[in-house]
Amino acid sequence: MVRADKTNATRSLRDISMANSFPDTTPITVTVNGRPLRAFVEAKTLLVQLLRDEFALTGTHIGCDTSQCGSCVVLLNGESVKSCTVLALQADGAEILTIEGLASGDVLHPLQEAFQEHHGLQCGFCTPGMILSALDLLKHHPNPTEAEILAGLEGNFCRCTGYAAIVKAIKAGAAKMRETAS
Ligand code: FES
Ligand code: FES
Repeated sequence: MVRADKTNATRSLRDISMANSFPDTTPITVTVNGRPLRAFVEAKTLLVQLLRDEFALTGTHIGCDTSQCGSCVVLLNGESVKSCTVLALQADGAEILTIEGLASGDVLHPLQEAFQEHHGLQCGFCTPGMILSALDLLKHHPNPTEAEILAGLEGNFCRCTGYAAIVKAIKAGAAKMRETAS
């Protein structure tokens, strides 16, 4: 069982009383998409469960139970991780970026725009993980070759697109991001 208190990231008497009510839980604080959030988690709680079940950030998907599909990828302190392989406790104090944190209001992130324009998605189930993995890849390779993109997406599966459109979208998104940065 996990309990969250989203209103105040500081430890308070209420926190202590909640911890007493759920003795097998530990309070943690994470910053998700720029917002500090507190939760009470069990030792076995996964980061993906914390994001989806407690913080209602359901853009982070669960596509397997073997840590293979990559649909749960988020950025943890700027590095892409499969959030089904990280314990919530390990994320205590961390900054997390999920797909919900990419757009600025109604303005999509350049990678999101590129996926839309270049048909980098069909059902969209893999897309949040693809985009967050791509974001990490572009930090290291701002102008990636096709081979670098394919290597960067090794842990992400897509059942629909055949990957060609995803590679095209990432190349286009990278170009947009370079333009924006210059
Ligand atoms: S849900 Fe498939 S790798 Fe995390
Ligand atoms: S778009 Fe359907 S799984 Fe990738």
